[in-house]
Amino acid sequence: MSNLKITRTLQNYFFVLYVLAALGARKRTVKLSTKFLAEKLNLSQQTLSRYLINLEHIGWIRRIATREGSFIHITNLGDQQLRRVRAALNSIFEEKSSPILIEGIVFSGLGEGAYYVTRGPYRRQFIEKLGFDPYPGTLNLKLTSEYDIQMRRELEVRSGIEIHGFSDADRTYGPVKCFPARINGEEKGAVILALRTHYSSSVIEVIAPKCLRDVLGLRDGDRVRVEVSLEE
Ligand code: CDP
Repeated sequence: MSNLKITRTLQNYFFVLYVLAALGARKRTVKLSTKFLAEKLNLSQQTLSRYLINLEHIGWIRRIATREGSFIHITNLGDQQLRRVRAALNSIFEEKSSPILIEGIVFSGLGEGAYYVTRGPYRRQFIEKLGFDPYPGTLNLKLTSEYDIQMRRELEVRSGIEIHGFSDADRTYGPVKCFPARINGEEKGAVILALRTHYSSSVIEVIAPKCLRDVLGLRDGDRVRVEVSLEE
């Protein structure tokens, strides 16, 4: 089942975002009069003005108000809300969602992956929820095209398989999200998001039962294809 979290803000502002997107404000700055937008949304101008101020305040749109109207652009954060709803609708309308393909270039990190993957509470959940005991480490892939980065964003808004966070005496370990995947068309594994949050949105990490560098003969700089299955 798709599990769209319907926050109060999404409930209040989704259709404002929707209409702005339909008018082209995802791709460029659009100039609109409050009267026109209020009519489109079936709202009073006063209510709409309040909504626009709030939307700007929470960072879903950028806006410059002038005497002739407002110049409005949906931000990345706003765009993410639209994608969340789209993903939820897709999973309702599509019997089986098509897999997401992401390609990235292998690179070495600081060897922290092994540490995280082998923490007991994470490891136990990987075994239980993914059906394999991961090789200690994560294969890091740098995404180089806008398309691949877009596909990663697509994953961010999906629910995936949730691995709960936990705390020990020293610190807390955050929750992470996994997506079962096939690596280079042959090896079983999973994409894992947010294990090390300092990695930017242009990186994905992959875990697998086997050492992927060994079984696929990978070295830094090699291109790897990851097919993420989205059945939820
Ligand atoms: O920080 P870095 O990601 O480089 O290291 P790590 O996450 O601790 O992983 C140890 C090594 O195993 C790295 O060279 C990974 O690329 C590799 N690895 C792999 O080949 N296959 C896996 N399933 C997991 C990690």
